Amino acid sequence: MSEQFDAVDIIRIKRDRGTLSPEQIDWTIDAYTRGAIADEQMAALNMAILLNGMDRAEISRWTTAMIASGERMDFSALGKATSDKHSTGGVGDKITLPLAPLVAVFGVAVPQLSGRGLGHTGGTLDKLESIPGWRAGLSNDEMMRQLADVGAVICAAGAGLAPADKKLYALRDVTGTVEAIPLIASSIMSKKIAEGTGSLVLDVKVGSGAFMKNLDQAQELARTMVALGQDAGVNTVALLTNMATPLGLTAGNAIEVQESVEVLAGGGPQDVVELTVRLAEEMLACAGVKDADPAAALKDGRAMDVWESMIEAQGGDPRAKLPVAKESETIYAPADGVLVELDALSVGVAAWRLGAGRARKEDAVQAGAGIRMHAKPGALVRAGEPLMTLLTDTPEKFDRARESLQGAAVIAPEGSRPAFQLILDRIAEA
Ligand code: URA
Repeated sequence: MSEQFDAVDIIRIKRDRGTLSPEQIDWTIDAYTRGAIADEQMAALNMAILLNGMDRAEISRWTTAMIASGERMDFSALGKATSDKHSTGGVGDKITLPLAPLVAVFGVAVPQLSGRGLGHTGGTLDKLESIPGWRAGLSNDEMMRQLADVGAVICAAGAGLAPADKKLYALRDVTGTVEAIPLIASSIMSKKIAEGTGSLVLDVKVGSGAFMKNLDQAQELARTMVALGQDAGVNTVALLTNMATPLGLTAGNAIEVQESVEVLAGGGPQDVVELTVRLAEEMLACAGVKDADPAAALKDGRAMDVWESMIEAQGGDPRAKLPVAKESETIYAPADGVLVELDALSVGVAAWRLGAGRARKEDAVQAGAGIRMHAKPGALVRAGEPLMTLLTDTPEKFDRARESLQGAAVIAPEGSRPAFQLILDRIAEA
């Protein structure tokens, strides 16, 4: 079959800082998905895009073409507003777990399609799979039924959703082209738009533990994604939030579920509660719900009731004992003072090395592995007090985990006050 365009011409256009036409973009995505563009050609094109960028019209068309590569879900038959949240990924980021049931309390359905972790950032499905019996894979009918009955579902995206992105993301992962803003924005938004949510709140992480290390880059990514959402008729808002230090006091799988349940029981670390409530307020506002009080729904058990129904609906036992790591080692504070820094990337890499994450897609994760932190930046610590507990089933991993924690915790003389702002910016317009 003769092709409409030639891949080499398309690569040359982006290499020479030109602009691709809508037809060229449609052909590129379609031809790559069906194998008519080779991986090495797509890798070269991705690198040209990483280096030279894309304009707004190109990114929008690229996203539309990725959506068109697969199915598009439709929740209009539910007869209620839908809202979803997407985080660009961080360390200790368990917010989806308390957030989805919390928003559902107010009659807004939450169809949360989530992923597994790769590298130092954890995956929501890996965390939930530490609950005995819980199942990530649902059919579209099961998802729809659960949204109608319970109001919230967290499950794996089916293979039919944006298949072009699955192929492209795997290629970007091994060709140093993940970090291109047009490619990240179109990858995330193609899946969220195809998922069929009516509104979307983006949690764009900024700092050492995030893709975006500085605020300028994060603002550009957020503006690009908000524009893509709005162009597609999805009411989209982005919060930029701090990922210089882990969220909460746990990074792992079962231990993050446990911390989420504490939040649903009205307790839990203050930063996890603050971000959960703020994201719930944004999601509810985007979905048109006024005067909701999500903080109260965490305190009075309404969110916990939805959580238990949501876990049970997917075969899990919300009251079952969670897996515990076989071995632990503690790191102690070397001096008196104030903990002024606890580096998110170092903690994420250490948790990953302990077995909480995977190096390759096929690897299994350890449910009990991870890091329990005993102090957050700003806390007073005394020499010899525990700072962190490392957890794993495979103690030979302790040395490598400790290596990545060298210099991660910085203790300064008493009186020092680290400045920490959790929510750094809000972007509602492109
Ligand atoms: N998450 C995605 O889904 N895609 C990216 O490109 C980066 C993060």
